[in-house]
Order: sequence, then structure tokens, then C-alpha cells
Amino acid sequence: MERQRRLVVGISGATGIAYGVRALELARKAGVETHLVVTPAGQQTRAYETDLSARDLAAMADVAYRPADVGAAIASGSFPTGGMLVAPCSVRTLSAIAYANNDNLLTRAADVTLKERRRLVLLVRETPLTLGHLRAMTAATESGAVVMPPVPAFYLRPASVDDLVDHTVGRALDLFGIDVPDLPRWGEQPTSR
Ligand SMILES: Cc1cc2nc3c(=O)[nH]c(=O)nc-3n(C[C@H](O)[C@H](O)[C@H](O)COP(=O)(O)O)c2cc1C
Repeated sequence: MERQRRLVVGISGATGIAYGVRALELARKAGVETHLVVTPAGQQTRAYETDLSARDLAAMADVAYRPADVGAAIASGSFPTGGMLVAPCSVRTLSAIAYANNDNLLTRAADVTLKERRRLVLLVRETPLTLGHLRAMTAATESGAVVMPPVPAFYLRPASVDDLVDHTVGRALDLFGIDVPDLPRWGEQPTSR
């Protein structure tokens, strides 16, 4: 598998697991091989926010790993990937990534992504923000991560929650050069102004 056609997806325990689920769906549609790791708190939000079982979620990826499996392929820089998306990214996981606290496979894979100078995109989801959250975002950015809170845009007149999720996930996948066909984009849509 060509390196650019392989994406690591991390799902942590912030609300908004729909972002991670949709990223897996769209990456698969685009022919990208996905490697998934979900934290225990991510499994909790899956149960609260979706009808998917843990097995259903794992089946949406090409390879799914246990978070305790710190010896998995994605824990090594020698395993080539096109980068990693953490969607959603909790403040706990953000902080662990920002300070290289590689306490599980998700945070280890993220640190590997940074040390190999590959693309790491964090859909950090918390509000309001403390100075500590902002400092962790700064530290992650200084290490090369792209901090991308899933903040919806309204200029394309979303008609549903799915539209909002698709737009954010499409923009996140843009950062990896993964094309999402039919993603509404400013300047390519007829607008009623
Ligand atoms: C339903 C639910 C929603 C949560 N939403 C958020 C959130 O939006 N942002 C956040 O940082 N933590 C949120 N948390 C708390 C995290 O799950 C918690 O800090 C956990 O330790 C994160 O672990 P992880 O980073 O290993 O996934 C939420 C927890 C639950 C159960």
C-alpha cells in the first residue's frame, strides 16, 4: 500500500464520535486504507452517541487495534502512513500528545506521526477553553500538529447535522490530500445573496 493511501484514525472520548465514524466512511470511499484505535472513553461515547457496537466500529476500518497494544504496527515510524487524524480529540488526549505522554497506542501513534514529520490533525472538542487547554494546543502546534476544532460553517446553509459533520470531516481529509467528491465548497456552489 502506497504510504499516502494509508491513514491512521484515532477516536478519543470527546463528544462527537460521528466525526471519526464519518472519516472512516469517507476514507474507505476514497480508497484509503484506515488503521483505527479507539480509547476506552471513545468506546463510552460510541455507546452513548451511536447504535454501533465496538465490533461494528472496528469493521469500518481496514485494521483496528486495542489501545493497550503499544507494540502494534502504527506504534513504529518504520510503518509508512500518510498521517493521522484524531477525531474527536479529547483534551486529555490533546494534552498527552502535546507533551509526548505516550500512554496508549493512540497517543504513541500520534507522537510517531509528529516525530516522522507526517501530518497530524486533531479535532479537539471542548468548550469553553481554559488557559491550560490553549497552552496544550500551542504545544501541539509547535510540535507540528494541526489543531482543528470541529467548528461548523454556516455559509453553505447546512440542512442537517450530517451536513455539518460531512463538511468538517471533508475539510479535515483535505489536509491529507484525500478527495471527498461532492463536498460543498465555497465558490463552487450557487449562492442566494
Ligand atoms: C459523553 C461524554 C462526553 C465527553 N465529552 C468530552 C469533550 O467534549 N471533550 C473532552 O475533552 N472530554 C470529554 N469527555 C471526557 C473524556 O472522555 C475524559 O476526559 C476521558 O478521560 C478522555 O480519555 P481519552 O482521551 O483517553 O479518550 C466526555 C466524556 C463523556 C462520557
